[in-house]
Formats: sequence, structure tokens, C-alpha cells
Amino acid sequence: MDLSIETPRLISLPKVEDPRGNLTFLENGRSVIPFDFKRVYWTYHVPESSERGGHAHHTCAEFLIAAAGSFRVNLFDGKNWTSQVLDSPDKGLLLPPGYWRTLDLYTPGSVSLALASDIYDEADYIRDFDDFVEMKKSKK
Ligand code: TYD
Repeated sequence: MDLSIETPRLISLPKVEDPRGNLTFLENGRSVIPFDFKRVYWTYHVPESSERGGHAHHTCAEFLIAAAGSFRVNLFDGKNWTSQVLDSPDKGLLLPPGYWRTLDLYTPGSVSLALASDIYDEADYIRDFDDFVEMKKSKK
């Protein structure tokens, strides 16, 4: 699966509406996410003024969901910045490798849930913005 050819996009997830409360689910290999997820992590108790992220990945793809509240995802592809507010637990942002991302504008109590295509590997991170820009230039 060549995740580098994917582009960031919002994907709607199945929603089972119920007066008792709604339910959304994901199944590895059978869902709308175009990769097998090997890792799940979430951030919580994030102060409103926080900016998280601030890195890109060489190969790891992610799928981000606002499990509670909302936050904004800012993406840079080496040329242009775009932003996407995530504010619904029944939608997620497909985030292929090769995008610099920052996350901000967290609302109180928000929870950012991330499914990742790989286990945690610091070697897959690009944490220096200038390095990222240079890498993108050299790939053209
Ligand atoms: P970091 O990637 O900087 O978080 P964010 O992208 O939200 O700003 O990760 C923060 C710390 O947590 C860093 O020391 C690495 C560690 N970490 C893991 O050990 N496993 C993981 O799956 C993730 C995402 C981070």
C-alpha cells in the first residue's frame, strides 16, 4: 500500500444513531481507512493555548479523530499550508506521510484520537521544520 500517494482528506465514519447515544466504529482491514493500524494514541487535558505536533513522518500515516471537543490540524506539504478543524467523532482526517503538521485551538476537554500505520519509531520523525522543507525540495 503506497500511502505516499494519498492526500489528506476528511473521511466519514459509520455512525449508529441511537437515543441512548451514538456509536462509531473502525475495523482494521475492513474500514474506510486505507491502511492497517498498528498503534493508537490519544491526547487529552490539552491546554487551550497548546500547539502539538510540529513534525512530519517519512512513512507513517495517521488517521485523526476528535473523539471529544474540537481542535485544528494545520498541514504543510512543502509549498502550501491548509487547515482542517476536527469537531465530530464520526469523521476523521487521513494524514499521509510527508506532511508537516501542527495541532492547535483545542477546546476544553477535547480528546484527539490517532490511529497510526506503524508502531512508534523516533527515526520516522522529521522534527526540524527546515529539514522538512529541504527534504521536500530535494524530492521534487
Ligand atoms: P510527540 O510526537 O512529540 O507528540 P505530539 O505529536 O502530540 O506533539 O510525542 C510526545 C512524546 O511521546 C515523545 O517523547 C514521544 C512519545 N510518544 C511515544 O512514546 N509513543 C507514541 O506513540 C507517541 C505518539 C509519542
